[in-house]
Amino acid sequence: MDKVKIEFKVNNKEVIIETYPWKTLLGVLRDELGLTGTKEGCGKGECGACTVILNGRAVNSCLVLAVNLEGCEVLTIEGISQKNKLHPIQESFVKKGAIQCGFCTPGMVMSAYALLQKNKNPSIEEIKEAIAGNLCRCTGYTKIIEAIKEAAK
Ligand code: FES
Ligand code: FES
Repeated sequence: MDKVKIEFKVNNKEVIIETYPWKTLLGVLRDELGLTGTKEGCGKGECGACTVILNGRAVNSCLVLAVNLEGCEVLTIEGISQKNKLHPIQESFVKKGAIQCGFCTPGMVMSAYALLQKNKNPSIEEIKEAIAGNLCRCTGYTKIIEAIKEAAK
């Protein structure tokens, strides 16, 4: 099968790639652009480990075909920190102890980022709804919710 050329933006940089029509955004980020902060868990839209922001909305990158990305803007966990400084959401996760194994953390942070972009002071219920698609096997969620609430402040 022939490769397809796609031009889009990742973390505010223009990228041009040639990839196969079956390749997902997750696969392109990790395998072709070296952005391995975005994790692959289930690979079928159930765990949220692969969450990135696509045109302003949190999406499961394992469910997005790269061929549909022409002209799109993608933001990954690597794109929210500035130089070597963590984003306030990341700082809050560290401060509140909302990380254990860390596998879910990039996806959680990106879901929180999308929420706080549109809602500066979310309620606990709104936070729970925003991370409903992100599974965490370690923390029990309480500290994650507290960290997002703290980051909103
Ligand atoms: Fe995408 Fe689980 S890897 S939702
Ligand atoms: Fe381990 Fe969430 S910290 S899965």
